[in-house]
Amino acid sequence: MKGIVLRSPGGLDRLELVDMPDPGAPGPGKIRVRIRASSLNYHDYGVVSGRMPTADGRIPMSDGAGTVEAVGEGVTGFAVGDDVVSVFFPQWQDGPADVGDFSTVPGDGVDGYAREVVVRPATWFTTVPKGYGHAEAATLTTAGLTAWRALVVDGGLKAGDVVLVLGTGGVSVFALQYAKMMGATVIATSSSDEKLERVRALGADYTINYRQHEDWGKRARDWTGGRGVDHVVEVGGPGTLAQSIAAVRVGGHISLIGVLTGRAGEVPTAVLMAKQARLQGLIVGNRRHQNDLVRAIETTGVRPVIDRGFALGEIADAFRYQESGSHFGKICLEF
Ligand SMILES: NC(=O)c1ccc[n+]([C@@H]2O[C@H](COP(=O)([O-])OP(=O)(O)OC[C@H]3O[C@@H](n4cnc5c(N)ncnc54)[C@H](OP(=O)(O)O)[C@@H]3O)[C@@H](O)[C@H]2O)c1
Repeated sequence: MKGIVLRSPGGLDRLELVDMPDPGAPGPGKIRVRIRASSLNYHDYGVVSGRMPTADGRIPMSDGAGTVEAVGEGVTGFAVGDDVVSVFFPQWQDGPADVGDFSTVPGDGVDGYAREVVVRPATWFTTVPKGYGHAEAATLTTAGLTAWRALVVDGGLKAGDVVLVLGTGGVSVFALQYAKMMGATVIATSSSDEKLERVRALGADYTINYRQHEDWGKRARDWTGGRGVDHVVEVGGPGTLAQSIAAVRVGGHISLIGVLTGRAGEVPTAVLMAKQARLQGLIVGNRRHQNDLVRAIETTGVRPVIDRGFALGEIADAFRYQESGSHFGKICLEF
């Protein structure tokens, strides 16, 4: 079978398509999955670009979706022919967060899904929403679940809330879709007017070009009549947090998710305190959250926005495309 390995010290020109040994039949508690798709996340880019160093020969990609080919003894909940999708934190099945790093995450601390077949514990997968293709399913592991957890699990989102999403990458487009699915009002930002048109078509109620309006946080708050937004899905980090705090309402919720503008910086702590807002760091979610998300999708029919698909051997081109920032929503690998 074919797979991709990343040679040290990382870099897009250090990704190699190689032959790998077939993993064979699944032992007790395991399933054998023919992987058909993966999806690109900024975190995967961090790993393959060498910015987040990993082991020499690491198989990248956290997201993997495909079909069960064989089931080991004692496995319940999966049968041959079922479509499945991987989980981000295989060791965090349920309950409050108990992992704070990427040492157990496929495609980073352990081998990921840029390969044609895996044999792994059944608990490393969930079912997929009925009617989803493999590429669609693969978008849920990281980006979909992060948006879901930020808004619904930890944010307690309800109909009538106002949600602010930043930019039009994978997490943000999901956040927009899930917010609309839950009956919320959405404010979306982008660097591109053309992309803002696309978010309006997806249901965004108010849009702001963050390049043209550096005070986008204040603009978002003004649009709510001065009250402020209930939730911010904060993917930018230090370069955007001050505006997110300006946008949030008293008692609102900011999910600190991303590092698009850097890893450390100044925070207007006094404003945050005065607003009595919750600033919460989070990383993806657990397997139970993913099962809940799958059920929510089956009930509502919402589908991911996939910008473009690439073949497994084109993985470096796929990441170059992501690097260009011209995508809208998700980029996938299909194989
Ligand atoms: N904590 C977690 O669990 C978790 C999970 C997934 C992702 N993340 C993080 O969330 C961030 C986004 O991930 P992703 O996979 O969605 O990335 P992505 O698909 O590569 O998103 C890139 C998009 O972000 C937007 N962007 C870039 N700089 C921005 C800025 N200064 N202000 C507002 N938007 C900006 C751009 O949108 P426009 O082109 O529209 O301007 C760009 O196209 C990353 O930092 C990633 O590491 C964290």
